[in-house]
Amino acid sequence: MAEITITEDGSHTIYVPELDEHYHSVHGAIQESMHIFIRNGFENFEKDRINILEIGFGTGLNAYLTALSNKALCKNVHYTSIEKFPLPDGITERLNYNSLIPGADPALFRLLHSSSWNTDVRIDTNFVLHKINADLTEYFPEGIFDLVYFDAFGPDKQPEMWKSEIFAKIDEHTSGDAVLMTYSAKGDVKRKLRSNGFKVKLLPGPPGKRHIIKALKY
Ligand SMILES: C[S@@+](CC[C@H](N)C(=O)[O-])C[C@H]1O[C@@H](n2cnc3c(N)ncnc32)[C@H](O)[C@@H]1O
Repeated sequence: MAEITITEDGSHTIYVPELDEHYHSVHGAIQESMHIFIRNGFENFEKDRINILEIGFGTGLNAYLTALSNKALCKNVHYTSIEKFPLPDGITERLNYNSLIPGADPALFRLLHSSSWNTDVRIDTNFVLHKINADLTEYFPEGIFDLVYFDAFGPDKQPEMWKSEIFAKIDEHTSGDAVLMTYSAKGDVKRKLRSNGFKVKLLPGPPGKRHIIKALKY
């Protein structure tokens, strides 16, 4: 049964006892998401029209930080996120992100969670959300994506999400100048990305992590 816990930057994450795994780094959930997916991913991506694919919607933190960042960037964002186990409202309503994020927009956070699944929902002028309630090992979202937030549970906890076949699907469903961001810099992950069309760059990680991966199709 998922439970809320607090990470070192004061922000919440979810702990899953069955897997003995957290949704985010215990060194700081907001800090990790900002570093990997927002600063090195979204805000570093040149295109003005971006199709994002997120693996694991979870707390909605990555989607929220992307939508907030986009208020200044005004890119045209289509954000697809696949999630097998949506969190209940009783949990998402208690997450403390709004009290910690500068420029927080609680109504926007609520809307990301209350939006219908399996359809496009316009969140604001420049941001369309498409949440898919499905199992990534059985279904791959339609479309061609520019930026992938690969945020599955760790390869040691959920190896089926990090199989070469999954990265082959990602290669098939990404544009020629696509970028994939992930927090795991394990040798096996690097090898699978390379053998499926990506060049692997190691970037410094957030606190508690030496490296993260930025994988490029070009
Ligand atoms: C590391 S958490 C990250 C969640 C999210 N990005 C966040 O910031 O809260 C991994 C997520 O993947 C989801 N997940 C696990 N197995 C999955 C599967 N087979 N298909 C799709 N999503 C899955 C989990 O429920 C969880 O929400």
